[in-house]
Formats: sequence, structure tokens, C-alpha cells
Amino acid sequence: MKIFVTGATGYIGGSVAERLVREGHLVTGLARSAEAARELEQRSIRPVIGTLDDAEVVVAAVREADAVINAAEANHPDAVRTISSALAGSGKALLHTSGSGIVATQSAGEKVDAIYDEYSPFTPALPRMVQRAAIDQVVFDAARQNVRSVVIRPTMIYGEGRGARKESFQVPVLIDNAKANGIGLHIGRGENIWSNVHIDDVVELYVLALAKAPAGALYYAENGENSLKDTAAAISRMLGFGGKTRAWSPEDAEAAIGFKAHSSFGSNSRVRGKRSRAELGWQPQGVSMLQDIEHGWYRRVHRS
Ligand SMILES: NC(=O)c1ccc[n+]([C@@H]2O[C@H](COP(=O)([O-])OP(=O)(O)OC[C@H]3O[C@@H](n4cnc5c(N)ncnc54)[C@H](OP(=O)(O)O)[C@@H]3O)[C@@H](O)[C@H]2O)c1
Repeated sequence: MKIFVTGATGYIGGSVAERLVREGHLVTGLARSAEAARELEQRSIRPVIGTLDDAEVVVAAVREADAVINAAEANHPDAVRTISSALAGSGKALLHTSGSGIVATQSAGEKVDAIYDEYSPFTPALPRMVQRAAIDQVVFDAARQNVRSVVIRPTMIYGEGRGARKESFQVPVLIDNAKANGIGLHIGRGENIWSNVHIDDVVELYVLALAKAPAGALYYAENGENSLKDTAAAISRMLGFGGKTRAWSPEDAEAAIGFKAHSSFGSNSRVRGKRSRAELGWQPQGVSMLQDIEHGWYRRVHRS
């Protein structure tokens, strides 16, 4: 198959593209720079130079492909509109990467009990997530225009990326800030919980969805959950700080990480991939996140 991947130089898109190349597909990737294009070529991915805002470039690449995987940016409405309308009437697959942050509540480190699966209704609480829900809806609506459109909402992804980008955002940021402070950090009491999933299991879910997801499907990618305090403690043990952690004020976290700090690390995002398992036969098998931090990939890369 000819598959066009946006975000092919990134953590998710790069990992998915690597697997698709390995399976013998002809993969084309959007590249924002000459350097990114070279990187893709080295990985046997044909680069298309442009950004999500270059509608003509994106439309041409979409039309040439048998399937599209949008893994560049969950919050880019124009790109999703452009890709969906270029695919309208084609019956081709569109896998759009959203994120489980869509159900997040900003709770300053306190736990919430609500857990969502693919069938649970919810109202997005964070302003950015209202926009994300509207974008996901464009993808669901494309199913009525004869596009086999699918939304995948990964949770907190961890583990070694298989493409050019080896690391995701969340765990490495927590590790860097723990290193800088000599202690594990969590916002407030750190009782807040995020679901999580290993990158290899995410890739497997995309491959299964590409093969057999029905039009209009939604899947959560999740294989367990941890409180941010337990995550901070694992990081602290891995770095040799004896498992000690301390509270990080939302303000300090924002000063260190930027505006996403509170919504990423002070919130709860608890989901279950019920449909992804039942409908696609997805069986995630990755090592757990805390194990990977303390004894796996993160220890090998960050301990020194
Ligand atoms: N990682 C997670 O745990 C996770 C979980 C749920 C949802 N998500 C969402 O999934 C999306 C991808 O995540 P990721 O972790 O793979 O991010 P990433 O490693 O930063 O990769 C993003 C990729 O998209 C490209 N890109 C970004 N904006 C673009 C634009 N305007 N035009 C063209 N290319 C663009 C980047 O290109 P460059 O290489 O040029 O920067 C890169 O290839 C994000 O929206 C993220 O919020 C991530």
C-alpha cells in the first residue's frame, strides 16, 4: 500500500512509519525541512516537503496515497479538514491521532474517579480540548463521506521510539526536572492519574486499525495507569534519589515546562481501550511504564 504519514519525523508518526516500511508498504512522509527530508530518506520514507498548512502539498500527497495517517498534531483543525475533504468519496483509510487528554480535568494533583472508554460520553473540560473534540468530530463526520476515518486517542506514551525521535514529551520532561531539582516532582499531592501505553503497543494498534477498523471508529490506546506521584517516585529511584518526591506548584511547573504543565501533569486522564481490544483484537504487551523508567529504556538513557 502507499501510505502518507504526517509527523513521520516525530515520536508516534516515526514509530508507525518505521513499522509500515518494515512491512513493505511505500511510505511517504511530510517533512518540514531539508534536514527532516534527509532523515526520512535514510529511513526509506519518501519525503514530501511542506507543513500541515500547505494545503496543496498535503492534498497532492493524500490523493497519491491509499491510506493516510495523521500523526503530526492533534490540535490542527485545518489539516484535518484538508485531509478529510481530499479523501471524500474514496473509501480510503484515514487514521487521525488525537489524545486522551481530551477527557482531562485540571485538578492540581488531586485524583478524580471518572474513567472513560470509547462508548462513554463526556464534555471536554479544558479549552484546548474543546477544540480537539471538534477536530475529532470532523474525522468522525468524514465517515459519512465514504472515508474509512478513525480516531485514535493515545494516552501517555512511553518507551523507545522506533523512528528518528526516540522520546515522547511527558516522561523525559519529568526526568529532566527531577534531575534539575535532585528529587522527583509532582504537581500538588500527585494523586492524579494518567493512563499510559508503550509505543510499540501504539504502533500495533495503528497497524490493526489500518487493516480492519470500520469507518467512524474511536479507539483509546491504553494499557494501565499510574498516579503522577508513583511516576515521580519511580523516576526518583531510577535517578538515585531514593524514591523521594516533593510537590511542585502549578506555577513552578509552568515556569519550567510551559503552559502545558498543568494540563499534562496536574490533571487526570483515565481511559480504557475497551473497543480497541474487543473490535481489533489488540493485545498490548509492553513493559509497564514504571518498569521501563526504573529498569528499562529510561534507566539506560537517563541514569548516566
Ligand atoms: N506522545 C504522546 O504521549 C501523545 C499522546 C497522545 C497524543 N499525542 C499527540 O500526538 C501528536 C504527535 O505526538 P508526538 O509525540 O509524535 O509528537 P512529536 O514527536 O513532537 O512529533 C510531531 C511530528 O509532527 C510534525 N509536525 C508538527 N507540527 C507540524 C506542522 N504544522 N506541519 C508539519 N509537520 C508538523 C513534527 O515535525 P518536526 O520533526 O519538523 O518537528 C514531527 O514530525 C501531538 O499532537 C500530540 O499531542 C501524543
